[in-house]
Amino acid sequence: MHPDVAEVLITSDELQARIQQLADEISVHYAGKEPLLLAVLKGSVVFLADLMRALSVPHAIDFMATSSYGAATESSGVVRILKDLDEPIEGRDVLLVEDIIDSGNTLGYLRNLLLARNPASLHIVTLLSKPSRREVDVPVDWVGFEIPDKFVIGYGLDYNERYRDLPYIGVLKQDMYA
Ligand code: IMP
Ligand code: MG
Repeated sequence: MHPDVAEVLITSDELQARIQQLADEISVHYAGKEPLLLAVLKGSVVFLADLMRALSVPHAIDFMATSSYGAATESSGVVRILKDLDEPIEGRDVLLVEDIIDSGNTLGYLRNLLLARNPASLHIVTLLSKPSRREVDVPVDWVGFEIPDKFVIGYGLDYNERYRDLPYIGVLKQDMYA
């Protein structure tokens, strides 16, 4: 285990098993269609990479980037688009792929922005959710794991751009940011 990690919350094996379950459900939902998987950089890329290889429906991928936490561990509620999609989504079946929903501010904003572009459908999958922290109620179709109100890292998630490479979801030691 990494020395900055207080505890492992979700092991690599647990992640892979759950992602296969999610992919099976998502594949059934999109049977006969060709969805566009839209990932929000950067935290979602590891999840996206595993999810896409577990899906059995053909699909495309695209990316967006929003303003992130920077050095802080709390959402400001202010969302800025740093990179927009390469292609229009009008008429597409869009699946928004998120790493974690905390306050819901980021996702709530993105969802409205995407709906205004008239996709054929818009669904949301998130690997992690912290339900106790929700400020904005966003309808999420698939949730990998509900987790307690702790700052987590690994499997794409960072603190100051570090720890994204850890193969598990871990809780960051408090003295790393306190
Ligand atoms: P929200 O707008 O409060 O829902 O925050 C969503 C974004 O905050 C996520 O996409 C992450 O980038 C980041 N975030 C929230 N909680 C954590 C965490 O525990 N670890 C790492 N990043 C987090
Ligand atoms: Mg994110």
